[in-house]
Amino acid sequence: MGELKVGLIGNGSISECHLQAYALNPKVELVAICDLQEDRARESARKYNIPHIYTDYRELLESPDVQAVSICTWNNSHAEISVAALRAGKNVLCEKPLCKTVDEALEVERAVRETGKLLQVGYVRRHASNIAVLKKFIDAGELGDIYFAKASLIRRLGNPGGWFADKERSGGGPLIDIGVHVIDLCWYLMGKPKVKSVSGNTYNKLGNRSHIENYDFYKAADYDASLNTVEDMANALIRFENGASLMVDVSFSLHAKDNSAMVNIYGDKGGAEIEPVLSIVTERHNTIINIDPQISTPGFDFQGSFNTEINHFVDSCLGLHETSCPVEDGVEMIKILNAIYQSAAEGREIEIK
Ligand SMILES: NC(=O)c1ccc[n+]([C@@H]2O[C@H](COP(=O)([O-])OP(=O)(O)OC[C@H]3O[C@@H](n4cnc5c(N)ncnc54)[C@H](O)[C@@H]3O)[C@@H](O)[C@H]2O)c1
Repeated sequence: MGELKVGLIGNGSISECHLQAYALNPKVELVAICDLQEDRARESARKYNIPHIYTDYRELLESPDVQAVSICTWNNSHAEISVAALRAGKNVLCEKPLCKTVDEALEVERAVRETGKLLQVGYVRRHASNIAVLKKFIDAGELGDIYFAKASLIRRLGNPGGWFADKERSGGGPLIDIGVHVIDLCWYLMGKPKVKSVSGNTYNKLGNRSHIENYDFYKAADYDASLNTVEDMANALIRFENGASLMVDVSFSLHAKDNSAMVNIYGDKGGAEIEPVLSIVTERHNTIINIDPQISTPGFDFQGSFNTEINHFVDSCLGLHETSCPVEDGVEMIKILNAIYQSAAEGREIEIK
């Protein structure tokens, strides 16, 4: 019997990474699963030996057996389900983004404060093993003050369709879906400086390119290309109160030669390039040197990072440590993302209070 009884809400594509990670953790017992589509939940329940199946998350939350939940539903239900779970006395691991709007984010934060329960935001990239290595260099001061970062996730063809492409349910396109990962990672590694202002642009030029053949990409469990109300690509400049800045560009559709990923941070003593593999750059004895850490996973290990994220959540629930991805970090990110969308809509820089 595990020490922590866990329920999963939203059993689509990414939930498999959560389920695999929980199944590997000996402290966990998976006791409940919920999806709007009962067959989907039934199939996972069979695979992972989960006794209780629901189609209404409220019924799952009524179960006194469930102590913690993973929320892997569409973005428009993250806030509602998080608040209900916290108020039902459960700890929560909520997939990114925390929610769609700043008002929702503040409501979730209030529920965390009032219940004293834990909410961890699903910033899986923070849990990559190469980030743990880099963090040691940063914390030891070896990069100095980090004053500039560049984050880019370009998909030439990669609109996941379904709810992801429906602004009502997703809150937006590549900015809120994949931009959130790399903006958060830079912000975290920069020491979470206070944001001062943002200036952003969004484009709807290519649509979802659903006519393209012979090219695979990540799809929502209920893939449907007929609706697309989100941006194709976004770029932004984020300024921080300490003078640091972060440039970002992300796309679901772009006439790019290839898909690409870049997360670079630059300090006054050294820099680091995180994608595709970790490399640290500095100088010694008047010579520039590139340091290539000799580690088993120099790049982003998808399932391995989910395993570490879930183990971290479980140990946070068991009181072994504080979560490294608290609700406040979700709130700050929603403020940044919403301000970028506002800046793009109004064509001006937006100050963040
Ligand atoms: N951390 C990552 O790298 C990563 C990757 C992909 C997706 N995500 C996030 O995970 C979440 C889910 O994404 P996905 O790709 O699995 O989507 P998906 O469409 O494949 O799955 C979502 C599932 O949630 C179910 N659902 C929706 N509303 C529900 C509700 N109210 N109650 C119960 N079930 C409900 C749907 O039926 C579906 O099965 C999103 O928030 C997304 O941003 C994170």
